[in-house]
Amino acid sequence: MEKSETNIFFENLQDLFCGKFIRGYKERENAFKKKGLVNILSPGRVNIIGEHTDYNLGLSINTAINKYIFIAGYENKTDYVEVFSRYLNDSNKFLLDDITFDKTTHWINYIKGVLKEYIQHGHKIGGFSIVVDSNLPIGAGISSSASLEVGVAKFIEELFNLKVDKKETVKYCNSAENNFVGVNCGFMDQFSVAYGKKNHVIYLNFKDLSYEYIPFDLKENFILVINSKEERNLANTEYNKRRQECNEAVRLISGKIKGKNITSLSDISLGMLYELKNKISEELFKRVKHVVTENNRVLLSKEYLFKGDIEKLGQVLFESHNSLRYDYEVSTEKLDYLVDEMSKIKGVYGGRLMGAGFGGSVISIVKKSKIDSITDIIGGKFLKKFNVSPDFIECLFSDGTRRVKF
Ligand code: GLA
Repeated sequence: MEKSETNIFFENLQDLFCGKFIRGYKERENAFKKKGLVNILSPGRVNIIGEHTDYNLGLSINTAINKYIFIAGYENKTDYVEVFSRYLNDSNKFLLDDITFDKTTHWINYIKGVLKEYIQHGHKIGGFSIVVDSNLPIGAGISSSASLEVGVAKFIEELFNLKVDKKETVKYCNSAENNFVGVNCGFMDQFSVAYGKKNHVIYLNFKDLSYEYIPFDLKENFILVINSKEERNLANTEYNKRRQECNEAVRLISGKIKGKNITSLSDISLGMLYELKNKISEELFKRVKHVVTENNRVLLSKEYLFKGDIEKLGQVLFESHNSLRYDYEVSTEKLDYLVDEMSKIKGVYGGRLMGAGFGGSVISIVKKSKIDSITDIIGGKFLKKFNVSPDFIECLFSDGTRRVKF
């Protein structure tokens, strides 16, 4: 039988493990042989639709994909955590009772932040050694950070037999990113990574984190993510600015719509939206309009998914992009170019910028049989215009973060 890519990754990690952490330590080597390693597979995510709705307590349809971070490790019976990233060819070691932000090694903070959350919530964890690898590109907008966070969370839950509800896991990982790493993101990324389900997407309501799996058989189609490789330089500052604008809009709007208690922008219906037209600044109105119409597009998409109408779903994706471009103003020339050019090609159902915006990736739904010509055309045009070759990532829907045993 042919070995799967996952098996090969884990086998390499096991070999590496013996080389990095165990060789020379007879006792540890024996312990390792007896117990084996805890292996965790943690996916990236795509967001089909529902952008900048999570922190506005709205709706989205997202899920995990078949690109992963691989973690393998064991309990080392010391007070230390040792990590070797094969992907980055970098290692780090820190004391469990002295977890502080590392200004020089950014990636380790995602791990530290998660551990700190678990410790603060009273979970007992000891020292461990892990190696991490990935076939999930970093900075491509498919949530390598959430994948690492939830992967490490699952690893310690398995290793130390912690009983943690999956929603709590998501919350701990989200707090780690908000409070330790310092990125004020919503719940979408960690939720998709933890809750993904093969051949399904997750319809998620951020008001109460209630969710529903919707079957999405891609059949003769693919989800194609195109990484523009444009660095998301403004992502943090502008992202936080959008969050503030939304809060400000809620403050100004609450009390302005009769008989309605507005506590988030997702309390505003399409009907109410136009009542607000001259009551707030034009800029704030555009932000509100994006959130309200985007929630509506999520509802429409849900309907189309149930009907299996990929063409209409694709159209909604293009509409979402326009809203992100003109109303929420988080797009860039490169992302607009990718979506505009994709919209001209037969075999492309729809596409839009994915994630925070200000660079990063575009998500699209395309016909499998057309994938080579699509990547040739788009790759060639983009290279000619911007002197950069974009990356194309073909995705299928996957189960969420899990332990794998061999
Ligand atoms: C980033 C954040 C998410 C979400 C998206 C925009 O990916 O991490 O929480 O807000 O932007 O939809």
